[in-house]
Amino acid sequence: MSLLAPVTDDSMPLFSASLISPEVASQLPEGYTIRPLQRGDYAKGFLDVLRVLTTVGDVTEEQWNQRYEWLAQHNDQYFLLSILDSSSRIVGTGALIVERKFIHNLGLVGHIEDIAVAKDQQGKKLGLRIIQALDYVAEKVGCYKSILDCSEANEGFYVKCGFRRAGLEMAHYY
Ligand code: ACO
Repeated sequence: MSLLAPVTDDSMPLFSASLISPEVASQLPEGYTIRPLQRGDYAKGFLDVLRVLTTVGDVTEEQWNQRYEWLAQHNDQYFLLSILDSSSRIVGTGALIVERKFIHNLGLVGHIEDIAVAKDQQGKKLGLRIIQALDYVAEKVGCYKSILDCSEANEGFYVKCGFRRAGLEMAHYY
């Protein structure tokens, strides 16, 4: 059972806003903002943005709230970001999951996941800003590296974001 108080405020940030890079925020297009995920993002199109990436399914608000509550209880491990346009619609998102290891002197590894920019907003450097913002969080919380899996089609994007090919992804689906 969690000792943490449940989330009651739709606009409370998932994690501290001090982990949002001021430099990245200042480089967004005019009127756009970047911030930690909020519970109220359900109504702002968060799941629609993720639909450019893959199948999301029919997630009800109640299911969203339950998952959000869990994330909020693990907010030293799960860092999800939203980028909003000038009309407060979510147009981009990404996640950093921090893994705590024994190796490398109890090292922390960042896993970059679920990067998505709304179709009509692609090509405005929002994807780059999301990665830069997640890199900033990873460094601030003490990760020694961040890693991600992507398709060949997206390799060029991640190279432009400063990543390089390292290893091979393998998967076992259940
Ligand atoms: N291949 C090569 N270069 C690319 C690609 C690509 N697929 N996509 C963007 N770039 C380049 C851009 O041309 C730009 O280059 P420049 O600096 O020379 O102008 C640079 O990368 C930055 O591009 P952005 O404008 O920041 O890219 P965008 O905002 O369109 O976001 C993203 C890229 C996230 C891949 C977007 O197209 C998207 O949401 N695609 C669908 C979902 C997806 O595939 N997400 C990634 C899954 S992998 C994961 O989540 C770990």
